[in-house]
Amino acid sequence: MPLLWVLRDLVGLTGTKFGCGIAQCGACTVNLDGEAVRSCVLPIAAIGNRKITTIEAIGATPAGKKVQNAWRDLDVVQCGYCQSGQVMAAAALIASNPMEPVDCTAHVRPDGCEIWVGTQVPTRVVDTVRKITGLPAEKIVVHNHLLGGGFGRRLEIDMVSQAAKIARQVNAPVKVMWAREEDIRHDMYRPYYYDRISAGLDANGKPVAWQHRIVGSSILARFAPSAVKNGVDPDAVEVAADLPYDLPNQFIDYVRQEPRHVPTSRAVCSQPS
Ligand code: FES
Repeated sequence: MPLLWVLRDLVGLTGTKFGCGIAQCGACTVNLDGEAVRSCVLPIAAIGNRKITTIEAIGATPAGKKVQNAWRDLDVVQCGYCQSGQVMAAAALIASNPMEPVDCTAHVRPDGCEIWVGTQVPTRVVDTVRKITGLPAEKIVVHNHLLGGGFGRRLEIDMVSQAAKIARQVNAPVKVMWAREEDIRHDMYRPYYYDRISAGLDANGKPVAWQHRIVGSSILARFAPSAVKNGVDPDAVEVAADLPYDLPNQFIDYVRQEPRHVPTSRAVCSQPS
């Protein structure tokens, strides 16, 4: 039995919510020994003697108290349904901090360049370093980390260009590592999306028409512009444009709207929709 069922149905702690049931939306997040986990897919038998903290008790922890105060002060609350999961995830983040800060090491020499970085896009790394140093691609070696995370954030190569630009002025390897304060203040934040859905129902309440407009930023427009056809970013409308439900008369459209700071999705692509 998943932990979420135990919390809500057996123990009566209903502050933790059920959303997707497949570990994607985060509504069911609780903290297990301080680490954020999705309780909808976590079998109760896998918990052992680890300590479970739910939204009902997070305010009693130093990090949780800070998050809840900030939540109130900044009026973060939206619809409210998933905010318990958001608070739990934020409290876990503040309490433990991600293991992997934004970092890159570069050694630029007249005859070649070596880069040490965890990246999802090594060819973009080579291309960026090539433009900064003027070296041919075959003289640029990327040592990609075999461990680590930061997926989504590691599609970006700003840390690489910072390291390469500094390293070309220095006769030694240069390691760039963002301080936690810089990471929080200047990071590529997760963009918000605006979705408006309307449907027509027949006399039995069955949908006979479905309209879904999605407004948000386009990550593919930056990374793979050719994938954007007729102004539609397939990543942004994924799932919405391929509904698992057999609804007639669907109309799904996308409006690109870029926030001031270029964002990066830190979650699976279908999350916006
Ligand atoms: S209910 Fe959505 S992640 Fe668990």
